[in-house]
Amino acid sequence: MPAPKPLVIAVDGPAASGKGTIARALAKHFGLPHLDTGTLYRAVALHLLRWGGDPESEFAALRACDEIAGLADDPELRSEAVGGIASRISAYPMVRQALLQRQQNFAEQPGGAVLDGRDIGTVIAPDATAKLFVTASPEVRAERRLAELLARGLHAHLADVLIDIRARDERDSHRSAAPLARADDALLLDTSALDRDSAVAQAVRLVERKIKAESQPA
Ligand code: CDP
Repeated sequence: MPAPKPLVIAVDGPAASGKGTIARALAKHFGLPHLDTGTLYRAVALHLLRWGGDPESEFAALRACDEIAGLADDPELRSEAVGGIASRISAYPMVRQALLQRQQNFAEQPGGAVLDGRDIGTVIAPDATAKLFVTASPEVRAERRLAELLARGLHAHLADVLIDIRARDERDSHRSAAPLARADDALLLDTSALDRDSAVAQAVRLVERKIKAESQPA
């Protein structure tokens, strides 16, 4: 009998849709390692910000891709400044190419994996066992992002956060390199009206259903 295929779960979606929370919970539920691929782009952005590289230069951003070791747990990674630069430099094809292999290696590890980002189901792991596209209305996402910022002791206004979320959506969806898009075979999970626990429970159900369907003989 052939060995069972490793379980690979791809979770994509826009900013503050809840994809990170869902991906972490799925990893815990299925006992899999998890990679938040946004931290890679954020680490490149943080390096540029700290060392004065120009985010307008694709070559400076490419060079920064070699300098991200040790930044994965830096508290400044989650700042809005870093998020804004990450959203810009992630549009550069050379940056995406430079970060591709380590994401694919993570997805292809023998025991399976959960990855979340913007292009996991479309580019990084197109053969993933289960793909979720997690979304929510821009207004709900802005409220969630605002709550996160306030909880971290930062000042922000809902109207500004909403403008930023819309700008981020626009850039992520309209760039030519690996734009944010729902893969044809991704299951849609709209979390606008769901609290954390209900969103996670629904994600687990969707993935379990997909695993069951995969294991049935055609
Ligand atoms: O959730 P949020 O948008 O705040 O941030 P994130 O997931 O940490 O990603 C930061 C930025 O990196 C996003 O704005 C995307 O533009 C980019 N990104 C990407 O292009 N591809 C990925 N696989 C992950 C993130």
